[in-house]
Amino acid sequence: MESREEISYVIQQEAIEIDHMLMGPLGFTVDQLMELAGLSVASAIGEVINGYEWNQQCTHEKAAVIISVDIPSGWHVEEEDICGEGIEPDMLVSLTAPKLCAKMFRVPHHFLGGRFVPRSIIDKFKLKLPSYPGTSMCVRIGNLPQTNLSAQKAIFAASVSLEVEEDPIDQFQKWFGDALAAGIKKPHYMVLSTAGKDAKPSSRMISLEGVNKDGFVWHTNYGSRKAREISENPHASLLFYWGPLKCQVRVEGSVEQVSDEESDRYFSSLPRDT
Ligand SMILES: Cc1cc2nc3c(=O)[nH]c(=O)nc-3n(C[C@H](O)[C@H](O)[C@H](O)COP(=O)(O)O)c2cc1C
Repeated sequence: MESREEISYVIQQEAIEIDHMLMGPLGFTVDQLMELAGLSVASAIGEVINGYEWNQQCTHEKAAVIISVDIPSGWHVEEEDICGEGIEPDMLVSLTAPKLCAKMFRVPHHFLGGRFVPRSIIDKFKLKLPSYPGTSMCVRIGNLPQTNLSAQKAIFAASVSLEVEEDPIDQFQKWFGDALAAGIKKPHYMVLSTAGKDAKPSSRMISLEGVNKDGFVWHTNYGSRKAREISENPHASLLFYWGPLKCQVRVEGSVEQVSDEESDRYFSSLPRDT
């Protein structure tokens, strides 16, 4: 895989001239170019679908995956999403040569489909393009997901700089709504960490029952380890992780029992064998 520094990124004028050359003297028809683009996109998707991370994201966490071809809609060819209204794809398949804006693309799956670029274009625009192994129609030019930690951090830094609600509960409800809207399955699953009098932390998954101005409501068995630890030390933390939104939410506070009435109501709502 070539690094971004070793590949040419073209500006708008060059992209226009390349298109004119392809469809003028070089004789490509729009249909032919579309067919080549389709083949590139299909083989890029094939490569990602075979990858572990994509499988996880597609099948367990996300309802729809967005793939942009050449430039994400709404982006400027040479800059990124300057209006803030462009879409944020999960994957980008650049064609011929990547456009300058693709340098800003921080999401892991970035491919280039340009095997068909004729030598005359490469020479005229002094393009540095990757090699296409075997019969591949496209090559990955972004970092692989596992090695993209700094990019993930950049995205996270961008998301935390957004305006937030004054009341953290309001903010949580907003993010929770975003998670639902993004099709994230089971966004109410969360990690609860507790520590008893020995101060040794323990964590486990639990389910959020609801959230209101008094806090986050969840239920458990009074005979469980977490219940014992909380009776010794009420301080606990919750953690939600919504991968496709690149968002995690940490909640810290002390745990109180809900009213007997509410607890009984919940208990009687459970199936008999729970
Ligand atoms: C997705 C998921 C959701 C869970 N939700 C709850 C829950 O809401 N309440 C609960 O007591 N245990 C829940 N559990 C089980 C806990 O993770 C844990 O195994 C159990 O409560 C015993 O924990 P403890 O020994 O730390 O007390 C859930 C487990 C999973 C995997």
